[in-house]
Amino acid sequence: MANKKTLKFPKNFYWGASTSSYQIEGGIVNDWSEWEKSEKRIKFLKNKKLNSKKFISGKASNSFEMFDKDLDCIKKLNLGAYRFSIEWSRIEPEKGVFDEKAIEYYRNVIKKLKNNNIEPFVTLYHWPVPLWFRDLGSWEKRKNIKYFLEYTEKLIKVFKNDVKFWITLNEPMVYSSHSYLDGKWPPNRKSIIKTFKVVNNLAKVHNEAYEIIKSINQKAQIGIAKQNIYFEAYKNRFWNKPFAKLLNYFWEDYFLEKIKNNQDFLGLNYYKHHRIKYGFLFKNKNKEKNDMGWEIYPEGIYYELIDLKKHNKPVCIFENGLADAKDKKRKDFIYNHLRYVHKAISEGVDVRGYFHWSLIDNFEWAEGFDAKFGLFEVDRKTYERKIRPSAEYYAEICRSNKLYIE
Ligand code: BGC
Repeated sequence: MANKKTLKFPKNFYWGASTSSYQIEGGIVNDWSEWEKSEKRIKFLKNKKLNSKKFISGKASNSFEMFDKDLDCIKKLNLGAYRFSIEWSRIEPEKGVFDEKAIEYYRNVIKKLKNNNIEPFVTLYHWPVPLWFRDLGSWEKRKNIKYFLEYTEKLIKVFKNDVKFWITLNEPMVYSSHSYLDGKWPPNRKSIIKTFKVVNNLAKVHNEAYEIIKSINQKAQIGIAKQNIYFEAYKNRFWNKPFAKLLNYFWEDYFLEKIKNNQDFLGLNYYKHHRIKYGFLFKNKNKEKNDMGWEIYPEGIYYELIDLKKHNKPVCIFENGLADAKDKKRKDFIYNHLRYVHKAISEGVDVRGYFHWSLIDNFEWAEGFDAKFGLFEVDRKTYERKIRPSAEYYAEICRSNKLYIE
């Protein structure tokens, strides 16, 4: 390989992988776990002739009992960073009552990561909410924001000296649109007004959480993980451009604009590209797809990174990955996306890290367990983790901090 051309990444670049608590830990009770078992949900799956067992998170990937195995995976990949989330409903199962055992679990996770020189990037909120918070009206009510801030304050005080990077919210636009606009996720609302209310409340949540975190730990670096989609005007026709611009504005800029004074870095999650023709989403059927039917479009990550340049902030890619049970496309996926990440860096985008989604196979929300996003495969019976060939490839990139041109 010595004479092969390589692309070097910046010094101290964070190579990582991401997960979220509800998708991997197992044994969590919250609005999602209740919804999975609701009559309405089970009837829906039955009508689609789907096996409802595959849509109940249950033990998920059993990480609550097997974090040491996850740590082995992280080490095998030579990662310098790991992004995971803390589950609010685990920490505060009842209003105002904090579960010290749950805190201990995360303390142990953080300690073990740090002992192995792996930087923890911690998400405070990755979608489900505690039952008591749901019953109070969840994010629809502005007065409920204070409860999330109390949880935030508690955690920041506990982990003040251990965690530098905090991600307050994961993908607020995705959450708001599936939970309040198309109603696919709990609490299954379908209302534009409620969607905007929730989006605006979440922006306030971030802004206030930012102030609290900084007041406790001035050195903390804070941001969100924002899923951006590359909306492309079909064939660059001038009549398609205004629609693409409008979607870009609402999906990307609206939220970022509201929190612009309270971000130390920008977190980018990139999965999707949509062509816009006559104001509608237009799919190109010839393109490569993942197991969930999502088009694989590596160029999009480059356009999204270039677009983020206008914010003049460091960028971290917190999610990028695909459902690929047979691991046929993941290696090329990683290679092609990283080439475009490198191109964006060489054109001046200050990218500080790349986190692949996901470390291990997990519970893919409404799609259940069949979507396999893991660098490691998880046996659904024994929970044994097994490295996929593409992950060996990724591990070498993480080790060498460079990409061999193929
Ligand atoms: C979410 C993850 C999810 C992934 C794949 C992201 O939008 O943050 O929780 O598993 O997409 O769908």
